[in-house]
Amino acid sequence: MGHATYGKPEITFLPGGKRVPAGEGETIFDAARAAGVPIASSCFSEARCGSCLVRVVRGAESLGKIRIDEKDHLPGPGYRLACRARVFGPVAVERMRDPGESLPLPPGGRA
Ligand code: FES
Repeated sequence: MGHATYGKPEITFLPGGKRVPAGEGETIFDAARAAGVPIASSCFSEARCGSCLVRVVRGAESLGKIRIDEKDHLPGPGYRLACRARVFGPVAVERMRDPGESLPLPPGGRA
């Protein structure tokens, strides 16, 4: 506790624990997309919809600064917009909105 751990930029998605590598300074959103992890969005990552909200479970110090356009959407400390939070070290986050919830997948694929 209380010690910052610096290392390679990497995002762990909880609760599943899927780990996704990120480029230095890449947004959580872009790194997740590149790795096939869906993140809800209805504003094309323009910091307008708030759908990409995540809770930062670990490694908040590994994320870039919160700017005003992001801050407007945050319900409180410990939350970030995936489309605005830039990754500079290991972090663990939890998606607040699962895009799968609103887009049910057909069972067993298409006929
Ligand atoms: S994707 Fe809309 S606010 Fe991040």
